[in-house]
Amino acid sequence: MPRPPPLRPRPLRPPLPLPLLLLLLLLPRPGAPGARDDASPPDGAREPLRGLREQLRAAAALSRRYWALLRCRVWPDDCERDAEAPPGWSLPLLGQQYLAILTSWYCSFQDCCDSEDCRISNNFTGLESDLSIRLHGQHLARELVLTAVKGYLELPRPDKALALSFHGWSGTGKNFVARLLAENLYRDGQRSDCVKMFIATFHFPHPKYVDLYKEQLTTQIKKTQERCHQTLFIFDEAEKLHPGLLEVLRPHLEHQAPENHRAKSRKTIFLFLSNLGGNIVNEAVLNLLQAGGSREEIKLEHLVPRLRAEIEQSTDSGFGHSCLVKENLIDFFVPFLPLEYRHVRLCARDAFLSQELLYTEEALDQIAKMMVYVPKEEQLFSSQGCKSISQRINYFLP
Ligand SMILES: *[C@@H]1O[C@H](CO)[C@@H](O)[C@H](O)[C@H]1NC(C)=O
Repeated sequence: MPRPPPLRPRPLRPPLPLPLLLLLLLLPRPGAPGARDDASPPDGAREPLRGLREQLRAAAALSRRYWALLRCRVWPDDCERDAEAPPGWSLPLLGQQYLAILTSWYCSFQDCCDSEDCRISNNFTGLESDLSIRLHGQHLARELVLTAVKGYLELPRPDKALALSFHGWSGTGKNFVARLLAENLYRDGQRSDCVKMFIATFHFPHPKYVDLYKEQLTTQIKKTQERCHQTLFIFDEAEKLHPGLLEVLRPHLEHQAPENHRAKSRKTIFLFLSNLGGNIVNEAVLNLLQAGGSREEIKLEHLVPRLRAEIEQSTDSGFGHSCLVKENLIDFFVPFLPLEYRHVRLCARDAFLSQELLYTEEALDQIAKMMVYVPKEEQLFSSQGCKSISQRINYFLP
């Protein structure tokens, strides 16, 4: 269910503060024992300005190296390529001590970690708990998303990307699940360097520019993958994506011959969010409820074949006609069920709790009653799911 972002402190990468840079500048120059410096080089004596300039240049080069080393300590993944010190240069003992002090000082306000890439957290316990506590009314999505993502990320060396396609009415939690994934897999959530979100009508609005978009998307994916060995790409409004654009993703989703064994494993997840097939999902739930069953009885086996068929037949959508669907490149179709009154109430409760506000059962009922329910006769499903519930609680604030 959509909710305002949690009050999670946003870790930033502050630039090295000036005093520290100055401290680094004052550190002794490696390979230049103090004794020789003290014996004032002849050049420096005759031309003090030039001598000073050289000293400063050397100090600046040195501080850049310290900075690079500090970066490597704090963000090991950023520096694989240039981690090697230049030949003939090694950090003096004193410098190493400074570096250790600096690193621990830095980590006291910046969360550092021991894993190989601090930006990737892959907290499956957190994901499981979020999916079962914060996501309402989606027993199928809850199970399937956790199993698929965890299974994929635990593979030592997957030979393709993972593609999940979320289907359901608006407000049923597709975006919310995408956000929970980003938050539990990456330290910085959706703002992570490793996560990219594309909204079809915003990023790729004009069909006539599809060739340009293809180039841009290819570059974006490539760049993100170079920055991060585990990446997440979210395509919102996937039903509006041009099928030609989706061709770009084909090479990622086909099995690839194992590359050079020394190359680092690369993991890529694509999420496609759309309302395609939403009506089929709703119909299935409606039939079940009308027959006196409960929604939890719905199994993936019942729903997914019908959902797939509906997506393939959808005439007005590029997604259904794209190679992804036609060539079975989507690994999992994830149905999001329509939400009932009781689920909307839970969303309202969460919205109060997330803002640390008190609520009454009456207020929850009033908020849930503000939504429109369909079909006309039964009034079973909220037509907007839990959309904008968090804004609605404002009416009930003292
Ligand atoms: C994983 O998430 C849970 C729940 O959000 C949290 O309590 C736990 O500290 C997290 N674990 C790590 C290693 O970040």
